[in-house]
Amino acid sequence: MSVKTVATKPIEGQKPGTSGLRKKTKVFMQPGYLENYVQAIIEGVGGFAGKTVVIGGDGRFFNDTAIQVIIKMAAANGAAHLVIGQNGLFSTPAASNVIRKRGAFGGIILSASHNPGGEDGDFGIKFNGSNGGPAPENVTDLIFAATKSISAYKIVEAPDVDLGKLGTSKVGETVIEIVDPVVDYVALMETLFDFDKIAAMFKAGFTLRFDAMHAATGPYAKAILEGRLGAKPGSVVNAVPLPDFGGGHPDPNPIYAKELYDYMASPNGPDFGAASDGDGDRNIVIGRGAVVTPSDSLALLAANAHLAKGYSKGLAGVARSMPTSGAVDRVAAKKGLACYETPTGWKFFGNLLDDGKVTLCGEESAGTGSDHVREKDGLWAVLLWLNILAVRGESLKAIQDSHWAEYGRMFYTRHDYEAVETAAAEGLVNRLRDMLPTLPGTKVGDLVVESADDFAYNDPVDGSVTKKQGLRILFKGGERVVFRLSGTGTEGATLRVYLESFEADPAKHGLDAQVALAKVITAADTLAEIKARTGRTAPDVIT
Ligand code: G1P
Ligand code: ZN
Repeated sequence: MSVKTVATKPIEGQKPGTSGLRKKTKVFMQPGYLENYVQAIIEGVGGFAGKTVVIGGDGRFFNDTAIQVIIKMAAANGAAHLVIGQNGLFSTPAASNVIRKRGAFGGIILSASHNPGGEDGDFGIKFNGSNGGPAPENVTDLIFAATKSISAYKIVEAPDVDLGKLGTSKVGETVIEIVDPVVDYVALMETLFDFDKIAAMFKAGFTLRFDAMHAATGPYAKAILEGRLGAKPGSVVNAVPLPDFGGGHPDPNPIYAKELYDYMASPNGPDFGAASDGDGDRNIVIGRGAVVTPSDSLALLAANAHLAKGYSKGLAGVARSMPTSGAVDRVAAKKGLACYETPTGWKFFGNLLDDGKVTLCGEESAGTGSDHVREKDGLWAVLLWLNILAVRGESLKAIQDSHWAEYGRMFYTRHDYEAVETAAAEGLVNRLRDMLPTLPGTKVGDLVVESADDFAYNDPVDGSVTKKQGLRILFKGGERVVFRLSGTGTEGATLRVYLESFEADPAKHGLDAQVALAKVITAADTLAEIKARTGRTAPDVIT
């Protein structure tokens, strides 16, 4: 076996401050492109020599080809041991678990999350550290620097590894271990949840549909929900991971998971519906007659988590990303829990979880998780919900209604304008940023601005400061609008507008969020000139 050193040039395209690289699949397929980025990761993290690294992805097109390249490059760079999911598959939370369980140096995770896959879709790659979480900014900065300074990559000439065959083999001196990606994850879930109580609920006739969207969660959901908990065979649909996600867009929002939303609303719909995304870290849950927003889900889980055995001692604290609604803050206040507000992106929860400051955290973008791994975890959230339903013996709707009656309801919605011309989107945000100091006291329709700023985060654990994380405008009645540009889109710019208002009166809790938020939506457009500047008359996606 010989190691080749291939001369290369710096690569374009990584955005500084993001925890990986996400591009069109065809960009990754250009000769040397993937190799170049993998070498930048290896150098950015201080080398792989003598280390154990976990590798796996969500099974999208190019996943297996990329893994063969990564194996050969990790071997050329001296890695001691590679732990790889069978057929190259790991859901992102399962990879996080294996990194932690094996005490690995880190992992390379291949996914573009909820973005479509296939040759004309998207691909992505990121490095997670030894805590199992996305590399923090000081590491991603080093990887970014390496993409700029790189001049050669190393790769061994060796036959491809059979990714389908469990067991160990060697590439050069590097041990290659192919593992079942599901077993360790099931074992972890079993330590957290009362499988017997959930199984008894299914036995008593409880019905569920879980839509795996032909993505990474399918095998995990089948094994746990049908295999262990006794949900009726066929309860898990679209369970087989496909390279193009069956032509779908593996994002469990009302547009791309429409089939599930429609089924839940139909007269023969089940008691509980859920879905997750491409790599299995996101979730949505729907009850009969009750769609739960991710922000509310976080609040409801925080209020009820102690009912599951893994959280029976209560929570150390909670955290949410800044644009996530303040629903969880109300739970934290009532229960006397610390509540942290972080920038968008799971990596910002890492320090809080590692330091034991929080147990539960979440984002409005359908991500919820806890200190059991260092990624958000779609199936985990579904199981925690099932555990709560099994213990409380009430419907999801009843639980949500009584939660709102107790804490009040935060009406919440996110409006996305996708593939906006980059200059127009940046112009909109820059103009608004310049206006921020002048806004307090300004009347916008019926609302009056209380305060306005560009969110900056001071990490309470390592003292690092992260600036420019989103423009927040708070109104006197407690309404809030947040504007930020997505860091994960691959075409033009995606403008996200997050809107919320608080309603204490239970008589109004049944309102549709778009109706309840009408004044805030109008104020957002007036302030940011969204329609005029983007040329759009309506958002592309409303969640
Ligand atoms: C989006 C979500 C964010 C999430 C990220 C990765 O990022 O908004 O909450 O952490 O995907 O799943 P964005 O495109 O908004 O930068
Ligand atoms: Zn994801």
